[in-house]
Amino acid sequence: MINKRVLTCVLVGAAALLLVASVGTVAAKGPELTAIEKLGKSIFFDGNLSINRNQSCASCHAPEWGWTGPDSDINAHGAVYEGSIPGRFGDRKPPSAAYATQSPIFYMDKKGLFVGGNFWDGRATGEVLGNPAADQALGPFRNPAEQALPDSACVVYRVCTASYPVSFEAVWGAGACRIAWPANVDSVCRKEGKTVRLSDADRAKSDMAYGNIGLSIAAYEASPEVNAFTSEYDYTFTGAANLNQEEQQGFALFQGTGKCKLCHISSGKQTLFTDFTFDNLGLPQNPENPAGVAPDFVDPGLGGFLMTAGYPEDVYLAEWGKHKVPTLRNVDLRPDKESVKDYGHNGYFKSLEGIVHFYNTRDVKPTCPGLYTEAEALTANCWPAPEVPGTVNTAELGNLGLSEAEEAAIVAFLKTLSDGYVP
Ligand code: HEC
Ligand code: HEC
Repeated sequence: MINKRVLTCVLVGAAALLLVASVGTVAAKGPELTAIEKLGKSIFFDGNLSINRNQSCASCHAPEWGWTGPDSDINAHGAVYEGSIPGRFGDRKPPSAAYATQSPIFYMDKKGLFVGGNFWDGRATGEVLGNPAADQALGPFRNPAEQALPDSACVVYRVCTASYPVSFEAVWGAGACRIAWPANVDSVCRKEGKTVRLSDADRAKSDMAYGNIGLSIAAYEASPEVNAFTSEYDYTFTGAANLNQEEQQGFALFQGTGKCKLCHISSGKQTLFTDFTFDNLGLPQNPENPAGVAPDFVDPGLGGFLMTAGYPEDVYLAEWGKHKVPTLRNVDLRPDKESVKDYGHNGYFKSLEGIVHFYNTRDVKPTCPGLYTEAEALTANCWPAPEVPGTVNTAELGNLGLSEAEEAAIVAFLKTLSDGYVP
């Protein structure tokens, strides 16, 4: 697998450069954002862009939480977030919205390995706007379990009539918002299942603006404010920081015995700790899914997306239950030590210690007799059966032979990846 992964790395790098160039965000280093990034930021944090004007992107991707979900109570249990409409839940944990812009457009490489896209299952492929993060950004506004607006024109209307420091027309051209909105647009946008009535020409203009909203968000998500590269680990490259002995040992294990780098690429400056491929780690089901997610819900991951995209059965079944390798940047970033974060596509793990222990001992401990939570499994000294058994990766994890101190060293290293470190 290693050669393939190195090749992937090169391709990812090349594609990332192209993407950055194509959204025009080759911003000068420094805190000042460009006009399009400022616009994207206003949109990202605008709670009005949801049906009940109560939810923004940041509601599930908060910067102080490493651009993921900011609610300890949710993270500690079911791990899925409620949408703008009460009682509606997604079925996965919000991944980091940072460092996602560099994922290449979804493709299958020569050896049949799937790479790239956004979302745990890669379904925001990047084919619509030429950029997975921009495609992704258009999803939540219309998703009934997220911001739930009934029509993309509602997003355009609310962005065009907002008072942002940098307006939509300042970036996308005078007249970009010149659309004859019907008198009832406000009430239409407050109700599910409604469509804003527009002339064909205005509909085309609104569709164009909607795509540009996605590109604006993606530009912000690609900016140095979001992809900051200001962790302790990053500062070791300038000599402004040094990993202590335990952290160094953890990094060596990450690269060696722990095998982490086989998927979480970790060489070089500004590495993202992911190769953007997909794998099934054999994560157990999360037994604390809230009402609204079936208790026996099984997540098909990449395989499910490939099935709906029309791939042949032998292709999609081989990918059943695989999820995208996430970035490890900011995995420990949270407001304080009491704040709970969670890990994996279903948030099964509540601590870095827990997930590293799982990598080390998944195939060593006996199988728990039921759907145990992480805490119950740790107490009973077992691991539950995998959510999707057929495709579990047994070659690269499961029995690493690490000591307790070595597990702790890996965790100590992961904690050096939080942005905002002050040298
Ligand atoms: C209600 C919570 C919620 C809201 C609101 C929300 N997201 Fe997400 N976000 C999620 C979840 C859950 C996922 C993973 C879904 C999946 O993989 O199927 C996700 C995935 C993503 C990803 C993919 C990251 C990756 O590595 O693949 C990005 C980027 C992202 N969201 C950005 C946004 C933006 C931009 C907005 C606002 C337009 C937004 N999110 C609004 C919950 C939310
Ligand atoms: C075979 C590829 C592979 C290897 C090897 C691997 N990982 Fe992962 N890692 C993944 C995938 C895929 C996920 C997401 C799995 C899921 O959610 O079902 C993940 C998730 C994680 C997460 C959770 C991140 C989040 O935001 O939810 C952490 C932390 C992590 N890995 C750390 C490690 C460490 C530490 C090692 C080495 C001990 C390691 N990984 C080895 C592929 C791998």
